[in-house]
Amino acid sequence: MSDIAHRKTEHLDLCRDGEVESGADSGLSRYRLVYRALPELDLADVDLRTRIAGKTLRAPLIIGAMTGGTDEARRVNRILAQGAQLRGIGLALGSARIVLERPESASSFEVRDVAPDVLLFANLGAVQLNRGITGDDAARLVELLGADALNLHLNPLQEAIQPEGDTCFRGLGERMAEAIPRIPVPVFVKEVGAGIGPETAALLACLPLAGVETAGVGGTSWARIEALRQRDPKAWAAGMALAGFGVPTAESVLACREAFPDRTVIASGGLRTPVEMATCLALGADAVAAALPFLKAASEGLDALLAAIDAMVHTLRILCFVTGARTPVELRGRVAAVDRSR
Ligand SMILES: Cc1cc2nc3c(=O)[nH]c(=O)nc-3n(C[C@H](O)[C@H](O)[C@H](O)COP(=O)(O)O)c2cc1C
Repeated sequence: MSDIAHRKTEHLDLCRDGEVESGADSGLSRYRLVYRALPELDLADVDLRTRIAGKTLRAPLIIGAMTGGTDEARRVNRILAQGAQLRGIGLALGSARIVLERPESASSFEVRDVAPDVLLFANLGAVQLNRGITGDDAARLVELLGADALNLHLNPLQEAIQPEGDTCFRGLGERMAEAIPRIPVPVFVKEVGAGIGPETAALLACLPLAGVETAGVGGTSWARIEALRQRDPKAWAAGMALAGFGVPTAESVLACREAFPDRTVIASGGLRTPVEMATCLALGADAVAAALPFLKAASEGLDALLAAIDAMVHTLRILCFVTGARTPVELRGRVAAVDRSR
């Protein structure tokens, strides 16, 4: 097994069975959706359909980027893809760098036969653009996987905890500016759980991106996951110390919406309940994504995954109704800061 495949296996095992969340505050509990006892709507009027990257989702929900590269990853990806297809939500694949190194691993990302209509994101680490991977390589990947969009992920904290990590992020903005126009689908930048703050969002807004995904602090922590994989005591100590470090999801959503007023903002990072998801939509996100909860559900099989999606979407619909929002866009602004002094 290659080093990357070995790492992917460890990541999946840890995420399914380990304690990989930081427990840090996503900041969302500082906001409260505004309940309307007189919503002046029929529940049946609520329409959750949302257009992202040129495709219409039945609800503003995306299964976050996770895996690929091994036989087990293929099994997981295909369950996630079937769930996304049956429920009309989006699916983001995990980093496909391994496909550029070992083309035979492409089958672990192959989902188009079971998910022909799904909004599908391919994924690459942006830092790989500093390691010889080009915009044309990314374009080839997108075509090979039949993806509708590409996520470039930023993960400096994760890479710094991994002793084998790629830590040269110098000049990456310029590399992305060169690469993005070569990619024939909408390109997004995402974090992996440490969030995108105002300064980063402002820099990213100068790039020809379709949008951003926050992946803020509050859920899965890649500093913690990398710590759990390490035998080196100082790598372990750094990962544990920095597990909740970064930009909380609520702050990240506000920062990204401000920097990207007319582009797509996907909220993610620790979204575990429909109330948290709806709060992100009210704070300005166009759609929401979650990773770990869908991995856990898919580990129990397709029925469990469908039940998890159905529960989220059903409750989101009710939340729109009782806040008087006919659509997710109408939810925007229907939120109040919680007064903690009382
Ligand atoms: C098993 C697993 C693998 C992941 N692999 C990737 C990846 O390859 N690329 C990426 O951009 N994000 C990856 N992520 C990060 C997620 O896309 C997401 O940003 C992060 O987990 C925060 O969301 P959550 O709190 O809902 O899990 C992975 C997450 C998990 C749980």
